[in-house]
Amino acid sequence: MKFLDEKYLGALATSVMHAKTLDESFSFANSFREKQIESKQWLINHLTGNPKHVCILGSWYSSVLPYLLFKRFAIIDKIDCVDNDPNVQRLAKVFRHFMGYEHRVNLWEKDAKEFITTNDEYDLVINTSCEHMPFDMNEIVKKKTQYAFESNDYFGIDGHINCKKSLSEFADSTGLREISTCEERDMGHYKRFLVVGKC
Ligand SMILES: C[S@@+](CC[C@H](N)C(=O)[O-])C[C@H]1O[C@@H](n2cnc3c(N)ncnc32)[C@H](O)[C@@H]1O
Repeated sequence: MKFLDEKYLGALATSVMHAKTLDESFSFANSFREKQIESKQWLINHLTGNPKHVCILGSWYSSVLPYLLFKRFAIIDKIDCVDNDPNVQRLAKVFRHFMGYEHRVNLWEKDAKEFITTNDEYDLVINTSCEHMPFDMNEIVKKKTQYAFESNDYFGIDGHINCKKSLSEFADSTGLREISTCEERDMGHYKRFLVVGKC
């Protein structure tokens, strides 16, 4: 990210101002803290190819990944962001509007598994919320698509229903065979895992 991107910072600030409660503004602000940006940039740095159609599962407020993806891959013409929480999607819409992303970013208030098993035309599918999902990624991966998945061993946090004990346990659960990246990062209280590859 360059030093100050006024448009990006403006869209983030305006979205925070649209929060209806303190909890909501806290949650939105949490989505673009330093470690959130760092972990998404880590993933972006390991992607290959020239993806045109991208899907992000468990996209939260869509406040970081679409921005970083458009900066890295000018060729992208569509990003589908899927998150089943209506409150999250309300602020995601505000952010999308102030970024001027309406024509390139679609926001879907759907269950991730249901969505991805009925829409399969993607070059790249990203899920940085695997620890929140009640299924493993081996249940959704298909040939040809590039996948980038993140999870962690941060057990005991609200909503963390599918953490993994180790990087190898997580890699096995993705069902990916042609793995180009399999790395972990020490985040202080926990480890974050990244697996990128194809089926
Ligand atoms: C806390 S957030 C993101 C955490 C993640 N570690 C990250 O940094 O991107 C997790 C998101 O996953 C979404 N989510 C959880 N289960 C889902 C599902 N089955 N389908 C779609 N979205 C889901 C939640 O609504 C939430 O917005």
